[in-house]
Amino acid sequence: MKKLRIIMTVLLALFLLTSCSSGAKDSASSGDASSDGKAYTFKLAHITPPSHMWHKAAEKFKEELSKRSDGRIELEIYPSSQLGSEADMMQQIESGSVDFGFITAAYTSSRSPSFAAWFAPYAFEDLEAAHKERQSEPAKKILATLDEQGITGLDYLFAGQRVMLFKDKDVQKPEDMKGLKLRVTPSPPMQDFYKSTGASTEGLPLPEVYSAVQTGVIDGMDMDLDAAITNKYYEVAKYGAVTNHMVWPAVAMVNKKTFEGMSEEDQKIVRESLEAAADYAVETRSGQEEEFKKELADNGMKIYDIDPELFKPYIEEFDKKYGPTDPLIQEFIDSVRK
Ligand code: BEZ
Repeated sequence: MKKLRIIMTVLLALFLLTSCSSGAKDSASSGDASSDGKAYTFKLAHITPPSHMWHKAAEKFKEELSKRSDGRIELEIYPSSQLGSEADMMQQIESGSVDFGFITAAYTSSRSPSFAAWFAPYAFEDLEAAHKERQSEPAKKILATLDEQGITGLDYLFAGQRVMLFKDKDVQKPEDMKGLKLRVTPSPPMQDFYKSTGASTEGLPLPEVYSAVQTGVIDGMDMDLDAAITNKYYEVAKYGAVTNHMVWPAVAMVNKKTFEGMSEEDQKIVRESLEAAADYAVETRSGQEEEFKKELADNGMKIYDIDPELFKPYIEEFDKKYGPTDPLIQEFIDSVRK
C-alpha cells in the first residue's frame, strides 16, 4: 500500500512537471490589439465531483475564458481531488505547477485565518446576500491576505449554505444537539459553533462520512444540500434540518506570478470570466433550493426548519470569540451584522 502511494505521488509529480505548468504557450495566436496575444492552457483543480455546482462553475469559467479571449485562454479542469487534497492543491498553486484552484474557505482559513470570518453563523439572509458581500471591502481585504503566500485571491463562489443532517434524532432546537457526535469539516470556526451547543465534532473527510453515519460512528453531519444528494446521505440519515446557518464559499485563486505575468487585458478577462461563473453558480443554486429539499424528502428524509432565533446565544458566542482574533474578522462581522 505504502509502495503504491509512493508510486502514485511520483507519477503525479512527473505529470505536473512534464505538462506545461504555468500555462503560457510560446505561440502568439490571434490576440486582439489591447492584449499581448499570448495563448495559455491553464490548469484548475478542486475537490468536488463533476455533479457539484463548483465543477459546473469551473466549466462556465472555462467557457467564458475561451469566448472572451477568442480561444487564446484554455482551461483544463481537474475535479474530485484528482491532484490531491486541498493542502496539496494549494501547495501546487503556490509553486505554480497548478495555476488556478477553487479551494474551500474552510481549508483556506487554515493558511490565512481571516477567511474564518465567512463562517459567522446566520450572517446572511440568503445566498444572494452572501454573493453580494463578496464585493465588500472586508471580503476583498481577506482575499488580499493570500498575496504573501504567492497567491492572488480572485473571488468567492457559493454552492448553497450549510444544513444539519441527523441519523435518527429529530433535532428541533440547539439543546437537542447536546452529546451528539457530528461530522463537521475540520475548520475551527465551524467546529466551535457546533461545540458551543454541546455536540462533539469529528473532522472526517467527505468520502468517509457515509459509512461513519451508517455504522453509527457519528450521529449526523454538517453538509450542503448539493453534497447530501450527490452522496445519497438520505439513505443513512432520517432527519434534515435546513438551517442554512453558514455559507460555504470556495475561494477562487491563482498563482500570483502567473497572474501578474498576464497583460492587463487578459487579467480583466480572467476576472470577468470568474465573475460570470460566480453569478451563474449563485443564480442556478438559488433556484434549486426547493427542488433539492423535495428530492431529499422524496427519498424518505424528514425535511424541516429550525427557528434561527433559537441559535442567538451561539451566534453571540461565535462573534465574541472570533471578532477579537483578527481585525479583518471583526470588520467583516461588523459589516454583515449591521
Ligand atoms: C464538505 O466537506 O462538507 C464538502 C466539501 C465540498 C463540497 C461540499 C461539501
